[in-house]
Amino acid sequence: MQYEKITVDVSIGPVGAVIDGVDLSQKLSEQVIVEIHQAWLQHHVVFFRNQDLSPKQQADFAACFGELDIYPFMQAVEDHPNVIPIIKEPTADLNFGGAWHTDTSYKERPPKATVLYAMQVPDEGGDTLFADSTAACESLSVGMRSSLQVLTGVYSPKMVHGIGGGYNQIAARKGLGQAYGGNAGFAESEVEHPLIRTHVETGRKSIFCSKPHTHRIKNWTREESLAVFGFLTRHLTQDRFVTRFKWEDGSLAMWDNRCVFHHALNDYQGQRRHMHRVIVKGEKPV
Ligand code: SIN
Repeated sequence: MQYEKITVDVSIGPVGAVIDGVDLSQKLSEQVIVEIHQAWLQHHVVFFRNQDLSPKQQADFAACFGELDIYPFMQAVEDHPNVIPIIKEPTADLNFGGAWHTDTSYKERPPKATVLYAMQVPDEGGDTLFADSTAACESLSVGMRSSLQVLTGVYSPKMVHGIGGGYNQIAARKGLGQAYGGNAGFAESEVEHPLIRTHVETGRKSIFCSKPHTHRIKNWTREESLAVFGFLTRHLTQDRFVTRFKWEDGSLAMWDNRCVFHHALNDYQGQRRHMHRVIVKGEKPV
């Protein structure tokens, strides 16, 4: 792909590209949007540096790629209903997104894109890891891939946000009440999606199931299913599929949530990290 309006640097790692030459606070031309979209489809996650964005400007940028969605478990910032604050205070132990996952894959229509913007990051630590779940899927043996492709997963927020879920257990131990919670009915809900999904825009297949968001393989026990999820997580998080992104204040990442896993590292105890996140509605996975 030839780019005329942006520059695209792929030296950052096995997945992703850094885009330069764009001020995301401005209204973007059709051609710039098309080029960013192309780079995003090809590299799965695109990074921008040195941006200065209000919640509305971040949301307007995200809306260039589809209808904005609402995150079901957190209050949005005051000035925009689609922007959630992801804040870890210096005194907090728990971080948000600190395990390999794709965002809200337990929804009927999980987001196709996540746009994460760094307001304030620690001097050291707080990087995010991104894993290419398309390359990982394509590198499985034909036998393994064809066995996985016929399986359906039962996806649910309950392991993370449910009453017995990870965030609430930790919060209860620390006497914090409910962390990253609310929406109790939805927190226990279940929905079926394939374990391996086919990208509607590229036709490529990616691993989609994850330990935090996929409760089980349909008609399997949770324990049996975890053996498969554990194997796939180990497989897709090998160095050859993973890029580590070091944030600076004003960095922005937009990932294709259909084919990229991510993991927010929690290695900056005593420092503050403040991000703003927007999600863009996707389609029912097939
Ligand atoms: C998330 O899981 O969406 C948050 C990732 C991060 O804060 O780096």
